[in-house]
Amino acid sequence: MPLWRPRSGRHPGWPTPVGPLRVDAGVIELRPPRLRDGSAWSRIRTEDQAILERWEPSAEVDWRTRHATSVWPGLLSGLRAEARAGRMLPYVIELDGSFCGQLTIGNVTHGALRSAWIGYWVHSAVTGGGVATGALALGLDHSFSAVGMHRMEATVRAENAASRRVLAKTGFREEGLLRRYLHVDGDWRDHLLVGLTVEDIGGSVVSRLIREGRASWS
Ligand code: ACO
Repeated sequence: MPLWRPRSGRHPGWPTPVGPLRVDAGVIELRPPRLRDGSAWSRIRTEDQAILERWEPSAEVDWRTRHATSVWPGLLSGLRAEARAGRMLPYVIELDGSFCGQLTIGNVTHGALRSAWIGYWVHSAVTGGGVATGALALGLDHSFSAVGMHRMEATVRAENAASRRVLAKTGFREEGLLRRYLHVDGDWRDHLLVGLTVEDIGGSVVSRLIREGRASWS
């Protein structure tokens, strides 16, 4: 595979929808975010403030102001600009055709590194049904194939048992502890660094979930 192959104005793997995949909760798909996602994004993130704030980076502006529907268009154009520059692949996670969370692939680097980070959140109304695991598996397979990544990384707080389980189910290996890595929930928090390379996945992360009975093609 060539080290870097930009395609006439388009970056590899974007803006391609990924899936659909059936998990216990229903049928999930990753698709690029749209302007009309603003009201669902605002409603769900406002509802889940207490859950999300524990794990997400701190910001100067308070949660409600930062998640008003009117904020979405500016946020979306920032995500699209990063995507056009080839640095990011921002996805919405859909469950049975409705917005239920986000999955983001960031700091996409080509050349001899071919690496990126991946992160996600899912509406609390639908957690526990394999949505994050399925979405992460779809995002990883897409990153390793269409985007051409060799290594994927994520960071997670040790206390975030649900997310650590999601990472473990998709094959991530814990590689180290990043001391006082990120300002989250009022303080600088240690994070575990987890990683996965294309050699680790044995072809496809989704196939692994299917073999284990956690998912099926829809
Ligand atoms: N302790 C141990 N395991 C737990 C706990 C807990 N307190 N809560 C849930 N789990 C397990 C579930 O049982 C399940 O494992 P299983 O299939 O073996 O039973 C697993 O965690 C959850 O798997 P999914 O159902 O695929 O995940 P879900 O759709 O519920 O989403 C997520 C999980 C993304 C962590 C969601 O709860 C969320 O959005 N949380 C808030 C935001 C967040 O933490 N995002 C991740 C930040 S780190 C990162 O992005 C790399």
